[in-house]
Amino acid sequence: MWSIYIFFFLGVVAAISHHAFYMSLDGTEAKQQLVMLRYGGVLSYVSKASFMASIVLSFRQQIWATFRRNLLSIDAIDSLFAVMEDPTAMLNLEVFKNAKVAMFLAIAVWLSPLLVILTPGTLTVEPRTLVNITSCSSVTTLNFTPEATWEWRNPPRIHDVIELSIAWYNTTSRNVEDPDFFDYFSAASQQVELSSRISAYLQKPVPRRNVALDICGSGWNCSYSIAFKGPGYKCSDQDIVNSPFTTSLLLPEGNASYIAHATVGDYAKPQIDCGEGGIPLQTPPYPERLGVFRTDPVLWIGYSSLKEGKTKPANLSEVIKADVFQSKIFSCRHYETNYEVSFNYSSQTQDTTVTKREFLKPIIDTTFIPGQDANDGTRDNTTAAPEANYIYPKDMEKYKLTAAYYSLGAQLRNHINGTMQFDDETGTITKTEATNTKLFNLETYLPVENLMSQLQSFYEDMILSLLSNPHFLVVAWAAGPANLSGEPKGGPMYECTKTRERNVFDYRARDLWLVYGTFILISFVSVVLGRMARSQNSGTFRNDRFSSIVGATRGPHLDHLDWRVDSKGDMPPEVGKAKIGYGLVISNTGVDHNLGEIFFKSE
Ligand SMILES: *[C@@H]1O[C@H](CO)[C@@H](O)[C@H](O)[C@H]1NC(C)=O
Ligand SMILES: *[C@@H]1O[C@H](CO)[C@@H](O)[C@H](O)[C@H]1NC(C)=O
Ligand SMILES: *[C@@H]1O[C@H](CO)[C@@H](O)[C@H](O)[C@H]1NC(C)=O
Ligand SMILES: *[C@@H]1O[C@H](CO)[C@@H](O)[C@H](O)[C@H]1NC(C)=O
Ligand SMILES: *[C@@H]1O[C@H](CO)[C@@H](O)[C@H](O)[C@H]1NC(C)=O
Ligand SMILES: *[C@@H]1O[C@H](CO)[C@@H](O)[C@H](O)[C@H]1NC(C)=O
Ligand SMILES: *[C@@H]1O[C@H](CO)[C@@H](O)[C@H](O)[C@H]1NC(C)=O
Ligand SMILES: *[C@@H]1O[C@H](CO)[C@@H](O)[C@H](O)[C@H]1NC(C)=O
Ligand SMILES: *[C@@H]1O[C@H](CO)[C@@H](O)[C@H](O)[C@H]1NC(C)=O
Repeated sequence: MWSIYIFFFLGVVAAISHHAFYMSLDGTEAKQQLVMLRYGGVLSYVSKASFMASIVLSFRQQIWATFRRNLLSIDAIDSLFAVMEDPTAMLNLEVFKNAKVAMFLAIAVWLSPLLVILTPGTLTVEPRTLVNITSCSSVTTLNFTPEATWEWRNPPRIHDVIELSIAWYNTTSRNVEDPDFFDYFSAASQQVELSSRISAYLQKPVPRRNVALDICGSGWNCSYSIAFKGPGYKCSDQDIVNSPFTTSLLLPEGNASYIAHATVGDYAKPQIDCGEGGIPLQTPPYPERLGVFRTDPVLWIGYSSLKEGKTKPANLSEVIKADVFQSKIFSCRHYETNYEVSFNYSSQTQDTTVTKREFLKPIIDTTFIPGQDANDGTRDNTTAAPEANYIYPKDMEKYKLTAAYYSLGAQLRNHINGTMQFDDETGTITKTEATNTKLFNLETYLPVENLMSQLQSFYEDMILSLLSNPHFLVVAWAAGPANLSGEPKGGPMYECTKTRERNVFDYRARDLWLVYGTFILISFVSVVLGRMARSQNSGTFRNDRFSSIVGATRGPHLDHLDWRVDSKGDMPPEVGKAKIGYGLVISNTGVDHNLGEIFFKSE
């Protein structure tokens, strides 16, 4: 009897081991997949073999107990003994009627291979994203403060490469000691023009070369976010009463689909009649307002967009009739802005999202006064109020920082300035560079519908494109923005999130226990039944070895039958129908016999 318990116990242990083994693999990277599945197969085989052994042993107790309980025909007994090897033996109805428990156990044994088939499959492999919140090197951010102290006569160098300023300057004298000496803003640097132009045409921020590889490392995607203070355009459609033009110029009333006034009050170039290096031709003293930032041109944008669900008519004359256009005017002012930008590198492609922009204060806090000429000795006729907020070159740090912001703003303004008009004869008349940018929809040749937010984003693309050239002064380590980055190899570590797609083991414990649970239950029931059968067999543990069978058939009762077999080895069919029993037989009058042998009961 112990062997039944031991086999049952072994089966349960193997099932638990199988579960533990798969548990330990769950979620780990799928390496040596076949080997792991084979180990799982071995455990499920051990479990199956043990459960089967325990069930088979119980089955044998049941056979003998059945003989004791019931009288069975010899055919039925044949079937009972054969059922473990020959499933067709189950077709005998008499067995089902008289030996239900034994047949249940036989079916369980025949189903037990399912264990080996079903359980290893509960471990599968599926792609999953590994997320590691860690730190990455080479992450750069923007920091405009070094622009304030940049000195073109002695620019900072990193690894012997000159750090580039955003703004270029003219001077009033070659002699720095000269009392009338000062530097004044000339123009945006060529490098800024280049990166801005590329970003305008690329329609997204220009990434640094190999940036994804430097930051994420090969085989990884990664993302991080940076915060910095820079310039930004704050747009609003509120104060259109101050607009220099009205919607009467725009479709459907007028014939323009786009009008941008972005250069009104612009810094004049040249500021004064000058020679090489911007040194004025006239003698000192120079005009007081030479090189002064008076105002930052406000962007005035008017545009027409299609009403929802309408298509653009081919002819201007149809426009009014068809009522397809609506027009809108908005303005944008240049502000110092706090940004938060998240960078996402996925398959080596850079994707940026501005997650937060907080407008702090106007970069030059004055308002342009139209039609009022300054006539102050410079070539700049701009007047703005209040004059107290003008920014003078001698206020050097503030002036240079303003110059940097102003240079970037000028890049945007130059790209979007101009008009676009409809003409029946020539189609559209384009007088702006904006058509090459993401502000225009080239299908309809109209400005994009959400022009206001796209304009802000267009400017942010230009600003983020500064990161493409690590030799800009404004490019700094994200982990320590006080330090210029130079060529960003290595550098301090900055927090970032790395992700990687890889195959991991996925273990479905529920499915595994569904299968094992069923078999544990069946085996447990069979152990209990085996135990009960043993007590029915007067407490002896039976087997179905040849000797046991011969021993059981020694009694004289069977001699009443005609056991002569024919030439094929089959016994006469009447013999098969004869009913026999075994051991203790209870008759109506109480206990009749308690024989250790088979007896024969005639019909
Ligand atoms: C994340 O990456 C770091 C460094 O590459 C490594 O030490 C750490 O174990 C990783 N963490 C996880 C959860 O993979
Ligand atoms: C700066 O000097 C150059 C001559 O070297 C001149 O062409 C340019 O117009 C000057 N810029 C300004 C803003 O005066
Ligand atoms: C547009 O108008 C012109 C003349 O104004 C006419 O020749 C042309 O056929 C019109 N085109 C369409 C598509 O109606
Ligand atoms: C990065 O971009 C990929 C693809 O566009 C996207 O699936 C992923 O969610 C993004 N990650 C973050 C942190 O935004
Ligand atoms: C400024 O405007 C006045 C007229 O108000 C004009 O005479 C003068 O030439 C202008 N100056 C420049 C530099 O354009
Ligand atoms: C900007 O566009 C306006 C028309 O919208 C035009 O009058 C002005 O001359 C343009 N400015 C420059 C610098 O091209
Ligand atoms: C656009 O309309 C204006 C008047 O509003 C007119 O002067 C101009 O010639 C028109 N342009 C075209 C291309 O039709
Ligand atoms: C910045 O540079 C200073 C001096 O070179 C150095 O002490 C400091 O550690 C650097 N900071 C970072 C974040 O690299
Ligand atoms: C990076 O992300 C993309 C898009 O989500 C994905 O197709 C690719 O497999 C990822 N690369 C790695 C190395 O995980």
